[in-house]
Amino acid sequence: MTSTAEATAQVGVVGLAVMGRNLARNFANHGYTVAVYNRTTARTDEMMAAHGEEGSFVPSAELADFVASLERPRRIIIMVQAGKGTDATIDSLVELLEEGDIVVDGGNAHYEDTQRREAALRAKGLHFFGVGVSGGEEGALNGPSIMPGGPAEGYKAIGPLLEDISAKYDGTPCCAHIGPDGAGHFVKMVHNGIEYADMEFIAEAYDVLRAAGLSVPEISETFREWNTGDLDSYLIEITSEVLDQTDATTGKALVDVISDAAGQKGTGRWTVQIALELGVPVNTIAESVFARGISGHADLRAAGREHVPGPARSLAGGDRAQLIEGVRQALWTAKVVAYAQGLDLIRTASLQNDWNVDVASVATIWRAGCIIRARLLERIRAEYAADNLPTLLAAPSIVAGIEETNEGARRLIGAAQQAGVPVPGFAAALAYLDQVRADRLPAALIQGQRDFFGAHTYQRVDTEGTFHTEWSGDRSETRLD
Ligand code: 6PG
Repeated sequence: MTSTAEATAQVGVVGLAVMGRNLARNFANHGYTVAVYNRTTARTDEMMAAHGEEGSFVPSAELADFVASLERPRRIIIMVQAGKGTDATIDSLVELLEEGDIVVDGGNAHYEDTQRREAALRAKGLHFFGVGVSGGEEGALNGPSIMPGGPAEGYKAIGPLLEDISAKYDGTPCCAHIGPDGAGHFVKMVHNGIEYADMEFIAEAYDVLRAAGLSVPEISETFREWNTGDLDSYLIEITSEVLDQTDATTGKALVDVISDAAGQKGTGRWTVQIALELGVPVNTIAESVFARGISGHADLRAAGREHVPGPARSLAGGDRAQLIEGVRQALWTAKVVAYAQGLDLIRTASLQNDWNVDVASVATIWRAGCIIRARLLERIRAEYAADNLPTLLAAPSIVAGIEETNEGARRLIGAAQQAGVPVPGFAAALAYLDQVRADRLPAALIQGQRDFFGAHTYQRVDTEGTFHTEWSGDRSETRLD
């Protein structure tokens, strides 16, 4: 169907649920004329009634009119539920687009789906971008962190607009071209993996402080204080807010009336699955995913409460100030380990996919706008900008931080475990530090076991080659190559 619409919009948004609506408003607030479309026209009408006066919008009831209302090269941002909805929207759009037009998926798509879509649209002369948008509804409106992956050629046309609407840190946009095809969605996925870990560590810190006898208001105040130091971050800030909230119905702290079964849409799980495939240890992120899973296993937990023996979960009575400081140190230690693991995963995937992702650039655009935004990220950016680090844990300022926090973190984690307070994230972080710094690991024994039952062979520390011991024979050693 040909359209008579005039091409006046510089950018268009398809999908006007809250995130899409707020992105469209953000573009309009930055002076762009924004074409808007939603499959259900009523939602477009609702958006125009509520926000149409905020800027220059071109609403369309038909997709053909929406496309025709866009200047060339057309820049279209899809903000629909990740999955089949995205493919259906792309299919509807493609037949209406022309060579050089740009399609952006701003949802939390799996990076392999993005790679498939990018190749398919590239074959039709179109530019496809998978773009991580972090910061929730507020971020979409006032400045998200934006992680675009797609062709460098197309970024020349879409990049400046995304950088315009992104959050800024000291005037620098929290948006930069991450790399080709699925690189942007991969980085967003890892962002979410780190987000899960960060949230788990905060939850463990809260749980330990409760077991130590602090009241919810005292814990809220403790997080507020931490938010003025090295732990300064969005998640610490909102934790204090959540803990301050009183339930209107019962008059109790809201946190005490919320069901303790955590949800998850899946990006943290993807992070762990892919890390396993790529052989990158992300045990802190994995423990955060498992912790959410356990919290939802009602039958397992009922059986555990009934049958599993253990101490009475109390940390009250000791040196309260030392305990609180120990929790802060454990929180900081675990946080840097989660970032180290997540950034290692990004670098490994970048090498595997030939994306050439700049880790310092990733830290740069995470400094504001996104859910994991934190003071620590400026330090991480500076360290990676100064040196091509083998791991964040080798960065001088991080080494100094671990030296300062390590002993207190160990003491706190031990005390929590002694008292039966679960700290799987903290413990995983500490185990990772002890594994990477160990001169010898007990994996030598595992190699011996594997050779014993499966003749899987082993290497030696004192000479080249592959060896096997004749365990069922004279136990002599054979060199195989
Ligand atoms: C963001 C968030 C967002 C994510 C929510 C829900 O960066 O703005 O990460 O993309 O969808 O956090 O994620 P879960 O349901 O998996 O916790």
